[in-house]
Amino acid sequence: MKKRALLLLALTPFLLTQCGDGSKGGDSSSSNSLTIGFAQAGAESAWRTAETESITREAEQRGVTLKFSDAQGKQENQIKAVRGFIAQGVDAIILAPIVETGWEPVLKEAQRAEIPVVLVDRGVQVSDDGLYATLIASDFVAEGQMAADWLAKKTGGKANIIELQGTPGAAPAIDRKKGFEQGIAAHPEMKIIASQSGDFRRSQGKEVMEALVKAHPNLTAVYAHNDDMALGAIQALEAAGKKPGTDVLVVSIDGVKDAFIAMKDGQLNCTVECNPLLGPNAFDAVEKAVAGETLPKKTVVQDRLFEASQAAAELPNRQY
Ligand code: AHR
Repeated sequence: MKKRALLLLALTPFLLTQCGDGSKGGDSSSSNSLTIGFAQAGAESAWRTAETESITREAEQRGVTLKFSDAQGKQENQIKAVRGFIAQGVDAIILAPIVETGWEPVLKEAQRAEIPVVLVDRGVQVSDDGLYATLIASDFVAEGQMAADWLAKKTGGKANIIELQGTPGAAPAIDRKKGFEQGIAAHPEMKIIASQSGDFRRSQGKEVMEALVKAHPNLTAVYAHNDDMALGAIQALEAAGKKPGTDVLVVSIDGVKDAFIAMKDGQLNCTVECNPLLGPNAFDAVEKAVAGETLPKKTVVQDRLFEASQAAAELPNRQY
């Protein structure tokens, strides 16, 4: 445990005495006076923006000083940001790793500096899971499986599918592909006829689909690893004279507001929610890690599936 955290713990009884009843201490949460570095992956999607806002908002509410870095989709920027936070002596680091591999050296540097690292949203592949305090994320394999099961049911197990993958090497791209493939395995007439990355971006989803719809006019379904790419693909399908939502079924993952609007408009058929509002869980974990508590290696965020028929009723409840 870092010296600063030890000092905080030592002072805790004194601080509680000063507040009288600790539960009525107003904003005096244990996050107060913490300085946390948040190494965000980028701003490629509406989901990512919602995650950034959730973490920023939670830091403000807890009186945490947050140092924020946007890696703009480049792992080297993110590694630099983590090194910068270590050099500044932050109390803990929140990291949303762009890709799964390549983290061992910088995580070892954080460990040597006794700075706990809380992973949010995406996991890493390392030889020793003691290099990070905990991971708070959705089960991406299950999300892919849910999308496949929905499509199998909707099509009676028969579909020519174009898959739009997320960022190569990113945990959700790897796992959502795996989950979907597992889900369609029992349906020999469900075939992925083309699969390409759109980097989780709306513009790239559109661009990739423009080419793929020309090469594969026999498609009957699109499976996109996130809503933004699906929304881009919908534009490309329409431009190619197809009717997304009707002659081409579209299923994606995230559950952002624009996806609900597209479902309400009949262009998107289904979205599997992936909750980006990770701020409260992330700072609960940070506080425990800074206090030297051992955390479970993974906390799985629960996701739900929404179909077009639920969109109008659900839209007013969407928080992102
Ligand atoms: O890691 C979560 C994924 O990253 C979201 O599904 C996607 O929209 C984002 O960019």
